[in-house]
Amino acid sequence: MTPAAADFSEPLREILGADGLLTAAADCAPFLTDHRRLYQGAALAVALPHSVAQVSQLLSLCHSQRVGVVPHGGNTGYCGGATADESGRQLVLSLRRLNRIRSLEAANYSLVAEAGCVLAQVQRAADEADRCFPLSLGSEGSCQIGGNLSTNAGGVSVLRYGMMRDLVLGLEVVLADGRVLPGLSALRKDNTGYDVRSLFLGAEGTLGVITAASLRLFPKIRARATALAAVPEVRAAVELLARLREASSDRVSSFELIPRIGIELTTRHIAGVSEPLDRPYPWYVLCELGASRAAEALDVVLEETLGSALTEGLVLDAAVARSERQRAALWKLRESIPEAQRLEGAGLKHDVSVPVGALAEFVTRASQWVSVNVPDGLLVAYGHVGDGNLHFNVSAAPGAQRERFLAREEPVRRAIHDLVSEFGGSFSAEHGIGRLKVGELERYTSPVELALMRAVKRAFDPHGIMNPGKVLREQ
Ligand code: MLT
Ligand code: ZN
Repeated sequence: MTPAAADFSEPLREILGADGLLTAAADCAPFLTDHRRLYQGAALAVALPHSVAQVSQLLSLCHSQRVGVVPHGGNTGYCGGATADESGRQLVLSLRRLNRIRSLEAANYSLVAEAGCVLAQVQRAADEADRCFPLSLGSEGSCQIGGNLSTNAGGVSVLRYGMMRDLVLGLEVVLADGRVLPGLSALRKDNTGYDVRSLFLGAEGTLGVITAASLRLFPKIRARATALAAVPEVRAAVELLARLREASSDRVSSFELIPRIGIELTTRHIAGVSEPLDRPYPWYVLCELGASRAAEALDVVLEETLGSALTEGLVLDAAVARSERQRAALWKLRESIPEAQRLEGAGLKHDVSVPVGALAEFVTRASQWVSVNVPDGLLVAYGHVGDGNLHFNVSAAPGAQRERFLAREEPVRRAIHDLVSEFGGSFSAEHGIGRLKVGELERYTSPVELALMRAVKRAFDPHGIMNPGKVLREQ
């Protein structure tokens, strides 16, 4: 520890107690690099408060001392939003000990969870009360609600239930100067002036620290039908989605696009994943329907819709899950694609969205660009078709020279994001900005909107201590 760090750790320890502050390098290390290992940070210390009062005192201290604070959840983000910079002068604030479900009101279809609750813990609490909390992500066993809120997380159920923002009724936030903004409302209707709390959703900890949230619950899902369908092209996937929505009275909860290479990578790298159909096809969709009535014949709807699509050539083959084990195997295939791609080697990631109706044309144009301009790359485009959100990633082809491949990151990103912009899309659909995409935000956001964002930042955090350098460049 530097002398300055030692001086600062005394008042911190007074607030947090002996077990609430980590200063040894080995203890801090897991908090100082991001999930993708893009950044290696340093920090004064890691704070582990276990109460809102402690968070409040800690921020008040950091505010008066002008110390930067980096809120930290499950560390599953892709954009370095929870990693301290290299200066060693910032304080990491882990929310992991604020992990209680404070209350659950089944009749109101709501619960209050603290920021450090793991997403799976919230899902379980809802399930035990015969309710459903629908946010669902590959990292749900380790990501935390505070991070989900702060990045406005998406995932595989957005099509039916919306993003994290849509699942929030109220928030409790500690502001940069330590004041607590109460607001754990369980109301569905509340038109009382500006919606100040909504600004913290997707702000990635740059405006304050969310310590708890009041979340919307839904009826528990008791009937499900899941299938993997092979389709000839993306256009067919989009058409199939529309038909399934119509046929099922809009009960499609997930509709995920998987390219052929997604099957090849997962069967090669992930134990327990096997070829799902008898022969290879160019594209697949994993579709799932859900209903709260156990007797709902969703499998009939799914099979009939797939059957007629098959006769028309819209679907080429399909496997319907006949058991929970088969369903889990299909989901494992889908959810292992990011990990399989990582194990394959170097990769360039783009988390983009365009209007669903333009998705097929976007994929055609962007794929053409990649095949011409990145001859040593393999396109791995998968994701949430129903939301128009694709992870339009490019992996280094076997035999590619890693450094040369990675050196093209910037021109590839530019071309793909420019095309996304041409289609009226977003360069950050569900993974946020963090540190990685600060320049992209400046490039693709209108000057008027950027000026408003900076004004909001100044109003909420006049000394710029909240997660400095994330979302917006330090001023
Ligand atoms: C996913 O949909 O699998 C995640 O958002 C992760 C990814 O982009 O790789
Ligand atoms: Zn995703």
